[in-house]
Amino acid sequence: MALLPILRYPDPRLHKQAAPVARVDDALRALIADMAETMYEAPGIGLAATQVNVHQRVVVIDVSEDKSALLVLINPDILERSGEQVYEEGCLSVPGVYEKVTRSEYVRVRALDAQGEPFTLEADGVLAVCIQHEIDHLDGKVFVEHLSQLKQSRIKARLAKQARITA
Ligand code: NI
Repeated sequence: MALLPILRYPDPRLHKQAAPVARVDDALRALIADMAETMYEAPGIGLAATQVNVHQRVVVIDVSEDKSALLVLINPDILERSGEQVYEEGCLSVPGVYEKVTRSEYVRVRALDAQGEPFTLEADGVLAVCIQHEIDHLDGKVFVEHLSQLKQSRIKARLAKQARITA
């Protein structure tokens, strides 16, 4: 297993549309293992393949307290959504930025697991937020793009300044 470098907003590669996974094989499972390790190490509660510059529809999530509930979603598809919730989100690709985003309260998702088996999952609360956030990544969308243009400009300026300091 290996830790993977995480792309930082506003890297244009975060805006690529990820392609559906055609085959769930050992190479994909190796990627999933690396993504999980990278997410836990960061630490974070979700990571999309897009964030490690792999443009395939793969997501890992673990919202448990003790990091014991790894959820793998391959080719995830939201079948149903309802309600509304506001949650203060962060993102491993936008370090240090936490902003309130409005999303669906409930989602029903269909995906393949790491063995290539289809399943459906119902989620609400933080898990529903995380699923929507990660699927956005696969569609080339970073959570700050749910915010106003003014807020996005401020966040870009702040991150550019941080990048200069750490460079
Ligand atoms: Ni994110």
